[in-house]
Amino acid sequence: MALDKGSFSKTGDLEPMEGSHLPISLIWGAFLREEYNEEELAKSWQRALLERKLALQSEGILAQGSPIHVADVAIGTGFGILRTIDLLQQSHPDEFVWWCSDGSQNMIEACRKETQRLNLSLQFWLKTWHELGDDHELQNRFHFVLCRGSSINYVLGWEEGGGPEERSRWIEAVLTSAQSFFRIITPGGEMYIDVTTQEQLDTERDECNCVVDIEGVRHQLHEVVIRKEAPPDDTPGFTPGSSTGFMREWTTRVAIGEVSYPPSTRKSLHLPHQELITILESVGFQQVKRESVRGEQYTGFFFKKPKK
Ligand SMILES: C[S@@+](CC[C@H](N)C(=O)[O-])C[C@H]1O[C@@H](n2cnc3c(N)ncnc32)[C@H](O)[C@@H]1O
Repeated sequence: MALDKGSFSKTGDLEPMEGSHLPISLIWGAFLREEYNEEELAKSWQRALLERKLALQSEGILAQGSPIHVADVAIGTGFGILRTIDLLQQSHPDEFVWWCSDGSQNMIEACRKETQRLNLSLQFWLKTWHELGDDHELQNRFHFVLCRGSSINYVLGWEEGGGPEERSRWIEAVLTSAQSFFRIITPGGEMYIDVTTQEQLDTERDECNCVVDIEGVRHQLHEVVIRKEAPPDDTPGFTPGSSTGFMREWTTRVAIGEVSYPPSTRKSLHLPHQELITILESVGFQQVKRESVRGEQYTGFFFKKPKK
């Protein structure tokens, strides 16, 4: 299914404007600083990726002495991963080749800014997931692909108010994205996706208030996530019942210093883990394993594209 890229990528503006919605990279950035220890997360991913590299070498997927090609297809603001790249460049120079993309111009611009701050040299690609698999240069190219931060649940709705009401269209978009991921992974290669925990999915209303200090400025964040029954939909779904079930709605109110910004609301897919696994297997992935990476807040899944 085609995504409306124009409305997805929106603007790259990074500066908050009084009276306007806050750029999503600022909202997400504040949330991440509250929830995660970035140093610890980066060290865990450094370890996890080194382990993956060794495993791929011992399976004969990666030749000894060849670099491992890694893609982060939802790089976002680069939180955690830019530091991982930095650590790996220091500890294992020239052993990792990175390729980073995202569907949001605003997230990419924020990531670029952070890259400059860290003095890293990296290129970013503005690409929605369904576009990846059709790109001949990307097909069968990566040994390892990452899609972190419960990103898959936002497949059609990262922009303010975006995305259709019908759940079946979201499920269809997850399926199209999974097909696309499958195509860019080398046979025998691996992927990691994480999603909202089952406990959070089972919660009807989750509210939190926090205050974070970002570069000496007080950011006050109020968030509410509610679970809503998806409206009935006659579109034939991918799996029986894909149109029935829930969606989630995330509303944030942020004040930076003394200035309050209008609330922002985003839809996301309520995706039970078993439904995700079924989709991944239906496109050809195998050995789907639930496995957590230390420091991550979501439930992680590793899975493989079979060898030819
Ligand atoms: C919740 S953020 C996570 C970002 C980052 N991985 C992290 O953990 O901080 C979700 C990201 O997925 C991206 N995204 C959502 N749907 C997408 C799609 N269909 N194609 C490409 N990127 C998408 C958004 O632009 C956003 O940067």
